[in-house]
Amino acid sequence: MAASMLVGLLGEASSSHPWKKAAQQQLLPPLCAAVLAVAIVAWCAARAAEWAWLRPRRLERALRAQGIRGTAYRPLAGDAPLSYRLASEARSRAPLPPGCHAIVPRAMPLVHHTMNEHGKNSVTWFGPTPRVIITKPDLVRQVLSNKFGHFERADGFGQVTRLLHYGLSIHEGSKWAKHRRIINPAFHLHKLKRMLPAFASCCADLVSRWEGLVAAADDGEPCEVDVWPEMQRLTGDVISRVAFGSSYLEGRRIFELQEEQVHLAMLVANKIHIPGYMMLPTRVNRRMKRIAAEIEGILRGMIATRESSLRAGKETSDDLLGLLLESNMERSGAPAAAAAVTMVLYEVLRLYMPVSALHRRTYKPMELGGVRYPAGVILTLPLLSIHHDKDVWGPDADEFRPDRFAEGIARAASSGGDAPPAFFPFGWGPRSCIGQTFALLEAKIGLAMILGKFAFELSPSYAHAPVHVALVQPEHGAQVKLRKLP
Ligand code: HEM
Repeated sequence: MAASMLVGLLGEASSSHPWKKAAQQQLLPPLCAAVLAVAIVAWCAARAAEWAWLRPRRLERALRAQGIRGTAYRPLAGDAPLSYRLASEARSRAPLPPGCHAIVPRAMPLVHHTMNEHGKNSVTWFGPTPRVIITKPDLVRQVLSNKFGHFERADGFGQVTRLLHYGLSIHEGSKWAKHRRIINPAFHLHKLKRMLPAFASCCADLVSRWEGLVAAADDGEPCEVDVWPEMQRLTGDVISRVAFGSSYLEGRRIFELQEEQVHLAMLVANKIHIPGYMMLPTRVNRRMKRIAAEIEGILRGMIATRESSLRAGKETSDDLLGLLLESNMERSGAPAAAAAVTMVLYEVLRLYMPVSALHRRTYKPMELGGVRYPAGVILTLPLLSIHHDKDVWGPDADEFRPDRFAEGIARAASSGGDAPPAFFPFGWGPRSCIGQTFALLEAKIGLAMILGKFAFELSPSYAHAPVHVALVQPEHGAQVKLRKLP
């Protein structure tokens, strides 16, 4: 508009003199470009102000008007500096006494601090996006069951998520539904049972390695082992072997690359709010893209080889990739001791839930628990904190009491009776963990094989310091003293 007015004015003023006409022809392009540049800068500035200031303030007002208090919005950074300070303070405190399970202040310092200061239903800021904390179990279930399709997953890692290769977990809508339908059958118990030999052989490797360590230790003295890296290696090996069978080593390479990718994602975590940041050719960004490409290349190669042997009528291997391809092709064309182990595993998952919180974004206005949430708000479900909530689990919420699960999950929370369960180690609803039976089966086989060969106790060198780095984990490892059973 401004440019055409300018052209009109120049046109009138200059039409009479040929030299003026020539000057006008020379002047016109730079002027148009200048006007265009000003318009673009003004548009970008308006967008940036809307994104970094006006929209967050609007959302903040809408939430406050309904009684939701919380930390004050700081442009762009949100609560990142506060979160960093609280996490550093939590880590600098002395470790917890062994046997103390009150880990929420250490593992979720920002959520813990905000709930103490502003109440259970309060708000923190993830960059320019408000994160409202929801702790009532029935509301958590409503959000996770996503009956009306108002929520989408919001892990907060935006563009980085794609590079982390979380497969099914990053899809939404019909793409997610299609993938989940294809993958589901591979995780049915009768198919998982075909993987038991692979589980057992990984556990046998671990047991014989530990036997070697104990044998090498001084005459019969218990041997100290940090079981945290050992368990990480075991779960990595199990998944590589069951997922990729004979291509086990390639599978392992994928896990090494994934580990590096998570480490790099943590390095850029503070900058991911900046639009387009992941497009910049920084050293970390370039490395992350190369890792993603290498993983994709390995997977594509493995799939192509298997698909051609399936088409040639060869048997499917009893590994996940084989079962997945089988189920995709079909589509497109214990006794008392076991119950006790299950109770112990549930209680461990309650107190030390690895995925401390889930996040969902409202993409249209939504009413929940009497509050109307505008579109663009993240609902944070602090599952670890709910698992430690005395209002839900009773005064002994922070105690290790596996027998609370004696009558099943539904009756475990103190409110018992008709109160709906508040136990969410694997999420809830349609997006709950597809690998939960796999994970529990693996843990039970591992425990049974280890307990059959060794006795162990905590080592005096163990410091009880759970922290949250992508998952809840022991900050200084998990040292135990191992003794071989006669
Ligand atoms: C103790 C071990 C595990 C825990 C605590 C766990 C926890 C979870 C949780 C809480 C979710 C829900 C995420 C959300 O709703 O946003 C989830 C999803 C998922 N988990 Fe697990 N998980 C475990 C092991 C596994 C294993 C062994 C596999 C695969 C072999 C697996 C595959 C998945 C997948 C694919 C999803 C996404 C499902 C979807 O979006 O439809 N998990 N997990």
